Amino acid sequence: MYKIIDGKHIASEIKREIATEVSERKAAGLKIPHLAAILVGNDGGSETYVAHKVKACEEVGFESTLIRLPDSTSEEELLGKVRELNSDDSVDGFIVQLPLPKHISEEKVTNTIAAGKDVDGFHPENLGKMMLGAPVFVSATPFGITELLRRYDIPTAGSRVVIIGRSNIVGRPLSILLSMKGVDATVTVVHSRSKDIEAICSEADILIAAIGQPLFVKANMVKEGAVVIDVGTTRVKNETSKSGWKLTGDVDFDAVAPKCSYITPVPGGVGPMTIVSLLRNTLLACRMKD
Ligand code: GUN
Repeated sequence: MYKIIDGKHIASEIKREIATEVSERKAAGLKIPHLAAILVGNDGGSETYVAHKVKACEEVGFESTLIRLPDSTSEEELLGKVRELNSDDSVDGFIVQLPLPKHISEEKVTNTIAAGKDVDGFHPENLGKMMLGAPVFVSATPFGITELLRRYDIPTAGSRVVIIGRSNIVGRPLSILLSMKGVDATVTVVHSRSKDIEAICSEADILIAAIGQPLFVKANMVKEGAVVIDVGTTRVKNETSKSGWKLTGDVDFDAVAPKCSYITPVPGGVGPMTIVSLLRNTLLACRMKD
């Protein structure tokens, strides 16, 4: 029988740890961590994610600021806001929620965020340092996944990990983290141009799906007893739900779960861990000023 990796539960545990530290900081008269988020436009998914991030700040006692800008915001206006937050000493870390409207370069925006406030871990300096194993802001989702594996005592040393997807924010940084000394997994990344994806996936001890294609992973791609981590969060039309859509992962859960030793659900698996990783990075940024 498979076990569920309960990201929501682990995230609550970590939030309690962070909240305790915030209370101690308050009692000691130290600065309270402050996370800011910029949300451009009205993308439904982004609205939900940012709302969760703001709520998580409240739960742990952080200060938070949400800056909403209209779809029509120019690239220069957004860059101006980013520079403002870079030089605002009250803000320890901030994020610009992606995706951005088409007329704005995500690369330019990401590169303009001060590396020391880039709590998403997307800035080239932070990604580069992470590759070298230097302690920095580790990309939130990859860190959340390694933390889930660690807290569930899932062995990674010598394990064969297959990651489906090579995005800059999940697949590629995750492949680096998992192959680091101390984690010691043997990592394969498969992508849209890979051959024999099914055969490669079915050799994985730990299979991680991060391509954003709902229900891509089927039972024939999973080894008996494998650990399956689902990073997908696509809104799929669903007439029976109140919202009209259902958050759907990259894994066909019902078909795959019976073959697994452990599996993450969607929602309630990786998603909550991304948010606590962001809180953790903000706390680190604040501590650096002590
Ligand atoms: N869009 C989807 N995931 C993320 C994330 O982790 N950070 C930001 N800034 N945007 C996202």
